Amino acid sequence: MPTLVIVGAQWGDEAKGKLVDVLGSKADLVVRYSGGNNAGHTVIVGGKEFRFHLIPAGILHPGVTAVLGSGMVVCPKGLLEEYDRTRAAQPELGRLAVSKAAHVVFPYHRTLDALEEQAKGENKVGTTSRGIGPAYQDKASRIGIRIGEFVHPDVFRERLREVLAYKNRMLQLFGGEPMEFEALYEEYSAYAERIRPWVEETDVLIQEAVASGKRVLFEGAQGSMLDLDCGTYPFVTSSHPVAGGACLGTGVGPRAIDGVIGVCKAYTTRVGSGPFPTELLDETGEWIRTQGHEYGTTTGRGRRCGWLDLVVLRHTARVNSLSGLVVTRLDVLSGLDAVQVCTSYRLQGREIGFVPSNTFELAEVEPVYQTVPGWSEDLRPCRRWEDLPAAARTYLEAMESFTGVPIAAVSVGPDREETIVVRPELLWGG
Ligand code: GDP
Ligand code: IMO
Ligand code: MG
Repeated sequence: MPTLVIVGAQWGDEAKGKLVDVLGSKADLVVRYSGGNNAGHTVIVGGKEFRFHLIPAGILHPGVTAVLGSGMVVCPKGLLEEYDRTRAAQPELGRLAVSKAAHVVFPYHRTLDALEEQAKGENKVGTTSRGIGPAYQDKASRIGIRIGEFVHPDVFRERLREVLAYKNRMLQLFGGEPMEFEALYEEYSAYAERIRPWVEETDVLIQEAVASGKRVLFEGAQGSMLDLDCGTYPFVTSSHPVAGGACLGTGVGPRAIDGVIGVCKAYTTRVGSGPFPTELLDETGEWIRTQGHEYGTTTGRGRRCGWLDLVVLRHTARVNSLSGLVVTRLDVLSGLDAVQVCTSYRLQGREIGFVPSNTFELAEVEPVYQTVPGWSEDLRPCRRWEDLPAAARTYLEAMESFTGVPIAAVSVGPDREETIVVRPELLWGG
């Protein structure tokens, strides 16, 4: 299977970055297909930590071409800062390619993000305030500025003038300050100069790589439950993190995808607002947050923590047609006498086994749990399936049998090495 999509099977931060790094050594192309710098993908190599927001984590492998695909929204300033920071930490990097069709995030998007959240008051989404929603709004409204226009000085000047006039009216409507054209144009033209050499027809690059049997890894961002259509709308992001998004956001069709790997934590976390049926607001939730250092890579916010929700996992297994599961952070649960897993919901006196698409109903469900034995061993030294305690293996087997998706690998620590490949055939031979 030369092409693999890595998707988040929960609400994001499942450790997709780590898996992309592990597989990246065997990839020709690593392609981000949705979102922008709302993502935060952590990679730890030999104790050195890298945090990626826009650049595919695969860039750490010098043989890789790291592509920012057409489905992304790109903050030019963020991209350059990230590139310089990564380059300073590791001079030998892969090649970068940026899609002409990706959209540009401007400061007015960030300001509007904040103003819209303020206006929503109690119903705010709890965004990362990176301007992601407003940038995708412009895309859907057909007024967004794309990278190909941005790096063409004359076209950019004309487009920015036209769009800024419109955006300034919006900013004022929400009580914000209008932005000055010349200063914005000057600052962003300088970014465009630096970004121009990376800009290319990435759809063609990817299509040709697929046609010639090269290994292409599609690096999902966010999580399936944050998908605009498949997630907990309106408490979602504005793009398509699910596997289908890999087609929309790169220029290939569904038959070009050979495998879809869903990454999920051994428990559940969520950042921002919205329903979370298995959330633990007690000391066990706090214990998981502390034990797992569950604080966001992008915003530093404490993540909401709870038990594993198998109803959610089965939903995301289906919407992504997962071919394999990678279970991460299993080490974090060590030390619990018993672990709970949610296997159905109770809604208005009825037991249901699916995620209701009405989010106001999902907010009402009560999780039905099964209790399974915990384990106390430190899992971080485990490198083979047999090294795991029997209770941990039983837990993983329950995940497989409930979702019908085989486990491809298990992660027992943040480092590249702290990985147990269970079924190498699902992951380019491990
Ligand atoms: P992503 O957004 O899906 O790439 O995930 P993040 O990088 O935002 O969050 C995952 C966090 O878990 C990072 O801090 C990783 O270094 C860390 N991590 C990854 N795998 C493991 C694991 O198996 N165990 C533990 N304890 N931490 C892990
Ligand atoms: P990675 O790729 C976790 C959440 C935000 C908020 C909602 C909308 O690191 O897994 P946005 O700024 O996208 O408009 O915010 O989506 N969110 C994430 N949560 N991990 C992410 O990315 C996220 N990207 C967005 O917290 O609830
Ligand atoms: Mg993250």
